[in-house]
Amino acid sequence: MILTKIDNIILTGFMGTGKTVVGKLIAEKTGLIFVDTDALIVEAAGKSINSIFEEDGEDAFRRIETQVLSEACKNKGRVISTGGGAVTIEGNIRVIKDSGILVALTASSDTILNRIEDEGHRPLLKTDNPKQKIEDLLLERQAFYKKADIVIDTTNISPDTVAEKIVNLKVPERLKWKH
Ligand code: S3P
Repeated sequence: MILTKIDNIILTGFMGTGKTVVGKLIAEKTGLIFVDTDALIVEAAGKSINSIFEEDGEDAFRRIETQVLSEACKNKGRVISTGGGAVTIEGNIRVIKDSGILVALTASSDTILNRIEDEGHRPLLKTDNPKQKIEDLLLERQAFYKKADIVIDTTNISPDTVAEKIVNLKVPERLKWKH
């Protein structure tokens, strides 16, 4: 499949729902360019996400995130994997939807916990009770993820199957797919 000048595919969803892995697979399958806003934030700030949260606070992190997201959305032909909190910042969903199709990945809280348990790079889950924190944040963010054009539950399916589903979506008219 060849994709010509098309809008972007933007992935949202909670930490551990597979946005980065799935985004890379979509890029491989379509030839779109993969972009990860967390990586852009680290590049822009010159330090890790943990360090940004620790030294500058979450608000500072969100400001950089909003900035890099808006820059990324100015391009076309990208698969943009965003951090799980990006859509909670006012205005970001509009910027995203103006630039392409927004796909939200979901998973059960147990699945999320299993997937991220051994990883240490998520400051928001550095707490005594990460399961509770996941459940609280999921509840808080549910309404934002629901605003996506498409929602895919990844609990029982492989990243490759999720990527296939997205690549084979019957995409809205505004996306120009050329086979
Ligand atoms: C965050 C998710 C992380 C990262 C930061 C904050 C969040 O990205 O942006 O730790 O608020 O959900 P992933 O969703 O890619 O883990």
